[in-house]
Amino acid sequence: MEERDLDAVVQTCRDPETIHWTTVPDPYDRSDAQGYRGSVLNAWARGNAACFVIADLDDRYVGTLDLRLSPADPLLADVGFMTAPAVRGRGHLPAALIALSAWGFTTLGLARIEWKANVGNTSSRRAAEKAGFTFEGTARGGVQHRGERVDAWVAALLAEDLA
Ligand SMILES: CC(C)(COP(=O)(O)OP(=O)(O)OC[C@H]1O[C@@H](n2cnc3c(N)ncnc32)[C@H](O)[C@@H]1OP(=O)(O)O)[C@@H](O)C(=O)NCCC(=O)NCCS
Repeated sequence: MEERDLDAVVQTCRDPETIHWTTVPDPYDRSDAQGYRGSVLNAWARGNAACFVIADLDDRYVGTLDLRLSPADPLLADVGFMTAPAVRGRGHLPAALIALSAWGFTTLGLARIEWKANVGNTSSRRAAEKAGFTFEGTARGGVQHRGERVDAWVAALLAEDLA
């Protein structure tokens, strides 16, 4: 993530769908994007997470995709993502998720990458399934969302799934 990505990050994080389905701050301004970039760089330096900007063929911002390592299990990670409203539905996210997952299995030696979303986030579920993730079920009260526990869909990709 670079400084030049931040305007697009702000725009994406102000989108109603992004606010509805994720835990981005609301309202969201440039200082939030700068803080996010700082935390991304920090997490990389500490080896806790790898957070990337997805770009199109002209190197324009498409979205963000985060791989976060579990503090409890060195072979486990989870993913978080969003794409800019104007470029949704073009398959950018699944393509990036396949590439990131392959890197996580081969370079980082992960065994399992998890995806979770609030129940009903069909766009996110489709993107994960198109990247090869297998739907596993619903974790009741599985995630914290804007002050309450909500049910979460869970899917995962295993190293052998990509073989
Ligand atoms: C989830 C998200 C990242 C998917 O990214 P994407 O690059 O659009 O992924 P895809 O192109 O594979 O589309 C996935 C699904 O989105 C839906 N979709 C298609 N066009 C769309 C559009 N213009 N706007 C919104 N959703 C659309 C479809 O259900 C599609 O599945 P399909 O290919 O089976 O029809 C994106 O919708 C998003 O940023 N949503 C808001 C934030 C969010 O929910 N993040 C995930 C939290 S778990």
